[in-house]
Amino acid sequence: MATSMAQTLTIKQPDDWHLHLRDGVVLKAVLPDTCRHFARAIIMPNLVPPVVRATDAAAYRDRILAALPEGAAFEPLMTLYLTETSDADDIAAAAESGLVKAVKLYPAGATTNSDSGVKSIDKVTAVLERMAEIGLPLCVHGEVTHADVDIFDREAVFIEQVLEPLRTRVPQLRVIMEHVTTSNGIDYVKSADANLAATLTTHHLMINRNHLFKGGIRPHYFCLPIAKRRSHQLALRAAATSGDKRFFLGTDSAPHLDGAKESACGCAGVYNAPNTLSCLAHVFEEENALQHLEGFTSLNGPAFYGLPVNTKTITLEKRPEPVACSEKLETADGPVTVFDPECELFWHVAAA
Ligand code: DOR
Ligand code: ZN
Repeated sequence: MATSMAQTLTIKQPDDWHLHLRDGVVLKAVLPDTCRHFARAIIMPNLVPPVVRATDAAAYRDRILAALPEGAAFEPLMTLYLTETSDADDIAAAAESGLVKAVKLYPAGATTNSDSGVKSIDKVTAVLERMAEIGLPLCVHGEVTHADVDIFDREAVFIEQVLEPLRTRVPQLRVIMEHVTTSNGIDYVKSADANLAATLTTHHLMINRNHLFKGGIRPHYFCLPIAKRRSHQLALRAAATSGDKRFFLGTDSAPHLDGAKESACGCAGVYNAPNTLSCLAHVFEEENALQHLEGFTSLNGPAFYGLPVNTKTITLEKRPEPVACSEKLETADGPVTVFDPECELFWHVAAA
C-alpha cells in the first residue's frame, strides 16, 4: 500500500467475497460493473432453480465467463446452494476439482430464492462434517426465519440458536458469517477462534434503518438482513476499519429490476457494485483508517479462503470535486437503481 500527497492510494486489486450476478440479460448488464474493479468474486447460488450440484455450478460458471466483456480478466469463485438433500460426495468432488470454493447456507425463507434452503440444520450435519474434513468453507446467511422473531433480532437469535450450537458440534468447520449487520455479530466473530470470519457489505457501513424510512418508504435501501439501528452501523464501521483480519468485504451487490423493487411487495437487495470502492474509501477516510482499506478489500478475504492475493493493483484517487456515478444501470429488461450513499463521494478508481 502506498499513499502520497496527491491523495492517491494504490492497493492490491480487491475481491468481492459475496456477490449476486443473476443470469441472462441482467448478468450480462451487471458483470462489467464488478469486473471493472474486482479480480474475483464469490458468486451466490440463489438462482431459480438454485445452483445445487457441481454440474449446475460448472454450467453457471460457463455462462458468467461467456458474458464477460471482451478482454476482461475476472475469476468467478463458485458456490453451491445447500439443501437438505445435498450430496456430500458431489460437494467434495466439486471442491477437489477447484470448481467450488464454498457452500452457501440459506435458512429456508430467509431471503430472495431461499425456498429450497435448510429448515433443520440437523438434516445437513453430515454434509457439514464432510466439509469440515476437507476444509471447504460454509457461507452463512445468519438469520432465523420464525414469524415470532422480530426482523431486527433475527441475526442475534440465529447466532444463539443455530450458529453457536453448530460450531460446537462441528468445530473444524470454517464459517463465514455473511453480511453481518449487528454488534452481536461483530462481538461473536471477535470472540471466536480462527475458523470464523465475517463479511460486511458496503451499504450496511453507510446506512442504518432510519434511511429506510426517511420521508417515506425507500425500497432501494431494503435488503436482508435489514439495516439495523445506528449503534449497530457504528459497530460494523469500527470492525471494518479496525484492521482485524477476520473482517472483509462482501458487497452483497444484489440487482433487482426497478419494477421488482418499487412494488407493493418489493424485493430485498441493493445494487452497489458500481460505486462500492468510492463508498469504501469515503468510509475508511471518515474513520481515519485508509491504511486498513487494502486489508479489508484485498488481503483478509484471500487469507481466510487460502487463496493468493491478487498481483495487480488499483489506484484510488481523491478528486477535489465530487465524482459522478450513474443513478441507474440500464438493462434490456429495464433499469436497476444504483446504491445512493446520500453523500458526495470524492474517491474514484483512477487506474485498474
Ligand atoms: O438483500 C438481499 N438480497 N439479501 C439476500 O440475502 C439475497 C439478496 C438477493 O438475492 O436479492
Ligand atoms: Zn446476498
